[in-house]
Amino acid sequence: MQFPEGFLWGTATAAHQVEGNNVNNDNWLYEHVPGTIYAEPSGDACDHYHRYEQDIALLADLGFNTYRFSIEWARIEPEEGEFSKASLEHYRRVLIACHELGLTPMVTFHHFTSPRWLIAAGGWAGKDTPDRFARYCERATRYLGDLIGAACTLNEPNIALLFQQLGIVPPPGSQQYAPWWLAAAAALGIAPGRLVPFIFAASDRAVETVLAAHRQAVEAIKAGPGNFPVGLTLALQDIQAGEGGEETAAQMSRLINDIYLENLREDDFIGVQAYSRLRFGPGGPLPPEEGVELTQMNYEFWPEALEATIRHASAVAGIPVIVTENGLATADDARRIAYVERALQGVFNCLQDGLDVRGYLYWSAFDNFEWMHGYRPTFGLIAVDRETQTRTVKPSARWLGAVARANGLNRA
Ligand code: GCO
Repeated sequence: MQFPEGFLWGTATAAHQVEGNNVNNDNWLYEHVPGTIYAEPSGDACDHYHRYEQDIALLADLGFNTYRFSIEWARIEPEEGEFSKASLEHYRRVLIACHELGLTPMVTFHHFTSPRWLIAAGGWAGKDTPDRFARYCERATRYLGDLIGAACTLNEPNIALLFQQLGIVPPPGSQQYAPWWLAAAAALGIAPGRLVPFIFAASDRAVETVLAAHRQAVEAIKAGPGNFPVGLTLALQDIQAGEGGEETAAQMSRLINDIYLENLREDDFIGVQAYSRLRFGPGGPLPPEEGVELTQMNYEFWPEALEATIRHASAVAGIPVIVTENGLATADDARRIAYVERALQGVFNCLQDGLDVRGYLYWSAFDNFEWMHGYRPTFGLIAVDRETQTRTVKPSARWLGAVARANGLNRA
């Protein structure tokens, strides 16, 4: 399987999951309130904020040509309208390190976490949020744009809709607030009904806010220095129908995926992030099918989800695709190689059919802070010792790095 010239091969991370001590964003607060739904706090994470240079060098040595990471709004604009030149300077150094080591940097401007002041001021349903997000993007691009290789405005804005369908988020207007929610709202000095974190932004108003924020951010980024593709990423499930679930599945696909895909047709690319399939029966989501291997995330080992979601995204949005995340949480690194090999077969099938797929970025470079699950699920190509921060390269890292170098692989 030979991939097209210039194909992007890389790995992805997100600031809050690897940097450590992002104490000024809303997630840090949710991790520490009484009754928190986070298994453990993010703490030092991978201390990537200080170790980025060795980390990026390691990725370059392995053979990758692209590195996707996010910049932390709460560091860059710690209080509304107050921009930190030192933080921007930090991310400039990260970008320079990428270029010096031959990696194309893909920058995500927002990956789930927001400054606390934004959440206190209305969060992802706030009327000024699109303007505020665009202003931050404008400032960051002014400082960093000449070094950016590709940009994602927002990461997975549709995750909230998915969470809602799976019953993880209370329906909008619900009075059934969990203790951690009440505590977080109190800490921010707002009523519980006004707390709208990004990953729970599921109301109609929130979806409109997020889409407006994206559109304004694209404009702000394009107006700045540099000339690079701009898009966003979506959490795409391979939505399948179980017995009698055809209608529900079709409805879910529209609700969770197409509501966004249909609004992104003007973008330069769509970032596809796919891990597994989700089956629906007539009454809603079905549990994993018996006999199908489970990942550490307790969803099905289903690498074919990538091909299905690339095809769907490309058909609905009609723009080039970059696989901005795909990966496996497992303690058995051989299963990771098996998973990626099958996922890449799917990418290759799409290319053979003439679909415009421009890259494959594995989630994740490092074992890192998997949000509510804490550090237990290990998605990384590189292990990180939680005590010493020692990095250990796994066989899958060498394998995928070699695929990247060869720009292809031999069929299994
Ligand atoms: C997401 C994010 C990543 C996750 C990854 C593994 O999809 O939730 O983009 O931050 O860590 O997907 O679950």
